[in-house]
Amino acid sequence: MFLTDEEKRMLDGEMGYGAQKGMELNVGLGEAMGAERMVKVDSCHLGGLSIRSAEDAGFDFYTELSDRGAKFRICTTTNLVSGDLENWSVLGLAADERERQDKLINAFDRMGALKTITCTPYLQGHLPRFGQHCSWMETSAIAFINSILGARTNREGGPAAVAAGLTGRAPEFGLHLDDNRVGSVLVHVTMKKLASLFEAGNLGYWFGKYSAQGNIVLDGIDEFINNDYMAQLCGSAATSGPTGIFHIVGITPEAPTLEVALGGKKPVLELEYGEKERQEAIDYLNIGKGDEVDWVYMGCPVLQLNDIREVVVAIEGKRVHPNVMFWITTSSSTKMLAKRAGYVEILEKAGVTVVADTCACLLPLAHLQRMGKKGIHSVVTNSTKQAHLIPGCCYMEPHYGDLDKCIEAAVTGKWR
Ligand code: F3S
Repeated sequence: MFLTDEEKRMLDGEMGYGAQKGMELNVGLGEAMGAERMVKVDSCHLGGLSIRSAEDAGFDFYTELSDRGAKFRICTTTNLVSGDLENWSVLGLAADERERQDKLINAFDRMGALKTITCTPYLQGHLPRFGQHCSWMETSAIAFINSILGARTNREGGPAAVAAGLTGRAPEFGLHLDDNRVGSVLVHVTMKKLASLFEAGNLGYWFGKYSAQGNIVLDGIDEFINNDYMAQLCGSAATSGPTGIFHIVGITPEAPTLEVALGGKKPVLELEYGEKERQEAIDYLNIGKGDEVDWVYMGCPVLQLNDIREVVVAIEGKRVHPNVMFWITTSSSTKMLAKRAGYVEILEKAGVTVVADTCACLLPLAHLQRMGKKGIHSVVTNSTKQAHLIPGCCYMEPHYGDLDKCIEAAVTGKWR
């Protein structure tokens, strides 16, 4: 691989332990992927901060980097962790879990990462520009900045993103290159009414599974889908398949026309997304058995202020059933805004817990066991990505439905 003089100095250790370790990782990854050189990156979003996802190997790797003085060279934001930092014990999380989580957060903090603690940094101020090379983790975030903003990142794993943060470089392959961003699978969208978290999620989940065959191009969307719903669409698309980028003709920046989106070529595959396909996505995810409801869960990706307002409007004046635990998850900064707006008070009065900093899939395993002992065995969600992940993360088979169905389940304690 070609390396500039500065990159060689990093590799030789002249620019510190962190830069050396990062460049070693970059070169190893670049050689494995056939990259010819590095590209300068100046934006990084990291996962791996939660003790659940870092596990022992990640914990040791990141704390050692921090102990040895490694520093991030570029704007680096951070993902969710394994508990609500302001309400740790309120949720029933243990003190030793908190201690370990704090150690890991502090390691990233000492390296210079920003404690944003959100999986939607692109909706909270970390907003890459069109064409900017980045190194980002997190499903919705990757698909959003590539597709909606036209920035450039691969679907990074923890070590690769950390390496980019420590060096300001990433190996040039994949979605950093023009040719790999062009669409080749055309989806004619005939289903209208996509403007809700649930419907955007269904569409993303359905087309995501075809993304292994090429980048998706959606044609026929003329409805305004706000950025919160786009986040849901992106997260779902990147969950059912390897979506890193997709295009929406006439809407996303690399798809002003169908011809441009397809790079002037014929699609390799043409599909249609209508009512039948929508129902397919719902039926695939809605696998809960029985009608008992123990837990209603919303917020994956984390809810934004407008999403929280939608829950408020749907539940105001109602009361969550005494046997049901109802969580919505968000970032601490959005929770602060929701408090100011009076939404948190309304939700709490109705029996909803507004959880910040974490999500169902990042809770420590021991905590899930504790929840099981408290009788939490069945879950209801309107989040597409979470419905996909819950069987593997929380060992429950979810009921999956729209906001109104979830609210009804929360209030009655029954799934109908
Ligand atoms: Fe975010 Fe957790 Fe979902 S990190 S995208 S809320 S699985």
